[in-house]
Amino acid sequence: MTTFWSWYVTILSLGTIFALTWLIFGTRKGQTNDEVTNETVGHAFDGIEEYDNPLPKWWFMLFVATIVFALGYLALYPGLGNWKGLLPGFEYLDNEAKTPFATNVEIAGGEERNGGWTGVHQWEKEMAKADAKYGPIYAKYAAMPIEEVAKDDKALKMGGRLFASHCSVCHGSDAKGAYGFPNLTDTEWRWGGEPETIKTTIMEGREGAMPAHLPIIGEDGVHNVAAYVLTELAGRKLPEGTEADIAAGQKIFSTTCFACHGADGKGTPAMGAPNLTDPAAFIYGTSYAQLQQTIRYGRHGKMPTQKDFLGNDKVHLLAAYVYSLSHKPAAE
Ligand code: HEC
Ligand code: HEC
Repeated sequence: MTTFWSWYVTILSLGTIFALTWLIFGTRKGQTNDEVTNETVGHAFDGIEEYDNPLPKWWFMLFVATIVFALGYLALYPGLGNWKGLLPGFEYLDNEAKTPFATNVEIAGGEERNGGWTGVHQWEKEMAKADAKYGPIYAKYAAMPIEEVAKDDKALKMGGRLFASHCSVCHGSDAKGAYGFPNLTDTEWRWGGEPETIKTTIMEGREGAMPAHLPIIGEDGVHNVAAYVLTELAGRKLPEGTEADIAAGQKIFSTTCFACHGADGKGTPAMGAPNLTDPAAFIYGTSYAQLQQTIRYGRHGKMPTQKDFLGNDKVHLLAAYVYSLSHKPAAE
């Protein structure tokens, strides 16, 4: 903040507080006790008048307390322009050498943000503390093979907590997925279930691209191939009264769809094309209507990359956790 704006904020804030202090003391009219009078302020409306009594003392003291609180807060925390606050713990903000966070950071427009207290800085500081505490534990697990980590109860607990904070929004707190989000507890994998593959999925993210087929095979083609997938591959029944040419659908499948889903429909993990013979693992629904929708307009599922946000060691732990969900120890 420039000196001008710093003073502007400071004068405005303190000025307001002093003006309010004056207002509350100035309007007490010398009445220092709670003595009740019969005097009125002198105006009447429809016969209703207003007594001219002082504020009850407890109420008055509440106002005083808020003023004292405000002044105390502004002294302790950085609220007045460039004032950084007296509270111990933020002193590092002045000392660039001691902390990675107190440096001036260039932000948009070439402006510099100083290292003063902000919620973000406090968060960064807490994260740094947590990293210092847990970093070595993460590092220890990161050096072990994922299958080994997946057998370690303590590691799985940590992985479970990471999952709850970073993954459950999409995959569900039980990791069983939802519409559009795959179940991570079954043995069906869109991108492959090897430990290292799971880790790559989480590190790099994935994008499934099922192209829209309406322009290629037409509306009849959509009906027929959806009927083929539903009955011959997924092993389910068509809704009653549906007329579809399943043989024609099969032809479309073996000339168009096989390129990604494989001739037998069992999928190609390298491109995230799912196995169409296991309807329990479909994420876009298994009804005839939903299948047609998928084939007609395509689908585009996106698993966001985690490597920049969580880093290798946490992702390693998460991969072990995810792996463990479908690889319970034989005893169970
Ligand atoms: C270019 C490769 C490609 C072709 C060609 C292709 N698919 Fe797909 N398909 C995919 C991918 C990738 C996904 C996964 C999309 C996602 O995860 O969002 C998918 C998803 C699907 C799904 C949804 C499964 C679920 O989990 O709900 C169905 C059904 C499907 N494809 C059927 C077909 C049919 C039928 C054809 C031929 C008309 C076809 N696909 C052609 C790549 C392809
Ligand atoms: C914004 C929603 C979102 C979040 C957050 C998210 N995922 Fe995903 N994830 C997806 C989607 C969508 C897919 C399916 C991508 C596709 O269509 O192929 C997926 C796929 C996956 C897969 C591959 C499943 C398979 O069958 O191959 C794994 C493993 C996975 N996620 C793990 C995680 C983990 C671990 C986290 C937490 C760090 C996480 N995801 C966070 C949306 C999300």
